[in-house]
Amino acid sequence: ANNILEQLESKRELARLGGGQKRIDAQHKKGKLTARERIELLLDDGTFEEWDMFVEHRCTDFGMENTKIPGDGVVTGYGMINGRLVFVFSQDFTVFGGALSETHAEKICKVMDQAMKVGAPVIGLNDSGGARIQEGVASLGGYADVFQKNVLASGVVPQISMIMGPCAGGAVYSPAMTDFIFMVKDSSYMFVTGPEVVKTVTHEEVTAEELGGAITHTSKSGVADMAFDNDVEALMMLRRLYNYLPLNNREKAPVRDTTDPADRSDVSLNSLVPENANKPYDMKELILKTVDDGDFFELQPDYAKNIIIGFARMAGQTVGIVANQPLVLAGCLDIKSSIKAARFVRFCDAFNIPVITFVDVPGFMPGTSQEYGGIIKHGAKLLYAYAECTVPKITVITRKAYGGAYDVMASKHLRGDVNLAWPHAEIAVMGAKGAVEIIFREDKNDLVKLAAREAEYKERFANPFVAGARGFIDDVIQPHETRKRICRSLEMLKNKQLENPWRKHGNIPL
Ligand code: COA
Repeated sequence: ANNILEQLESKRELARLGGGQKRIDAQHKKGKLTARERIELLLDDGTFEEWDMFVEHRCTDFGMENTKIPGDGVVTGYGMINGRLVFVFSQDFTVFGGALSETHAEKICKVMDQAMKVGAPVIGLNDSGGARIQEGVASLGGYADVFQKNVLASGVVPQISMIMGPCAGGAVYSPAMTDFIFMVKDSSYMFVTGPEVVKTVTHEEVTAEELGGAITHTSKSGVADMAFDNDVEALMMLRRLYNYLPLNNREKAPVRDTTDPADRSDVSLNSLVPENANKPYDMKELILKTVDDGDFFELQPDYAKNIIIGFARMAGQTVGIVANQPLVLAGCLDIKSSIKAARFVRFCDAFNIPVITFVDVPGFMPGTSQEYGGIIKHGAKLLYAYAECTVPKITVITRKAYGGAYDVMASKHLRGDVNLAWPHAEIAVMGAKGAVEIIFREDKNDLVKLAAREAEYKERFANPFVAGARGFIDDVIQPHETRKRICRSLEMLKNKQLENPWRKHGNIPL
């Protein structure tokens, strides 16, 4: 019996050492933590339950039968984040470069299956040289098994990917299927084909960092949500994000006690919107002054900045915030911002998180690059997402709500529950100047007449009352009472029930 216990201890020791001290030192030298150190930081102290420490690969080619390391390049199991259950897998770059073997994939699938059974999120810490080259197609099969589980888990439990090293080729598609992707600057990259292949095929010279680093994916491609300076910061922020999320799609959005009064008013908001309708202002100020404790967890802050998305709390309850940003492109909707917001609205809807929308939108972005790029199809994504969404929807129009963009931005017509407007809101087909130039074309050389027409149009339409008269907005509120009115609305909507008709699935314009 002693012998078995000794064997157990020595196997554990081997697994803990991964690819050995030399490779661990190399990992540290690159500024990266090891797979186990990352799990230690991510989870509450002493909560990690490791599974499959004794799993070894089954490959017998290229001398692999002589190089088996218990655990096979990925540490898996479950634990707690602030006392709430979570499943994790953490790829160990010190073991065969974290490359994915058949058994490595089986370990990942096992925690995903269990997470689905008990209804808890999955976090993947990715650091891998890709498919285990010695295993060939067995390894590719492993990837596909993981992809399939990602898809089945989508909308059932939250899935979060952290890219903390290489992630290339087929390996990118598991993170791509998850709800959020975080990256670490300078030590992580994601691409379908690396710099060498790119050079051969397209003759472009580009570094790994430029092609698929954290900055690239959080500012150019929009593939990743956030970029962090190092492993520690990234893991701490992941813990923060986790606190906003329900464990699964049958749970309500989590509630955390707050001392911030639900009826707190903020008079400074009364002067947030400039008198001149063409002057920008920072929509983030409104968000920060409205949510609990000024605490806003913004996602994709450096991508499609003309729309703002992120999580916050109102009277303790998690909410999703979507807001036009007048500081960038005057807050116009374009291809990127529509896709960015649409995916976020769908996440909130899947996980019972109410959506609060702040609207100041002069319309869709004009131009050939937008039309050729398919703004019709991509703008439709946001429209579709809002229309399909059944969670509580509260909309506040702060200034402009023009044209089709008015409809799209969580309008009453798309089953908005509570639609409010500030007193100077302009809810109209377009701005007064543009409107008059079209409908009074015959007066186009008579500037005096035109100015009079414009004033007349403004008087008639540039206000919230035309929409109010039809019940398209429920009330006109003072800016300072925005928080109070939203909190009340959320309380009223607590037991909202709404179902879409049965179908296999809709056909969102992709
Ligand atoms: N399969 C098997 N082993 C792999 C591997 C893979 N896909 N990727 C890396 N490794 C091994 C290396 O052989 C090396 O082993 P060693 O420590 O015993 O020498 C170890 O992992 C570390 O790799 P190394 O190349 O020294 O690290 P690096 O930081 O210099 O480079 C990569 C990292 C990912 C850029 C590089 O390893 C690489 O290009 N890997 C292959 C990527 C690939 O084409 N994958 C298959 C298609 S998806």
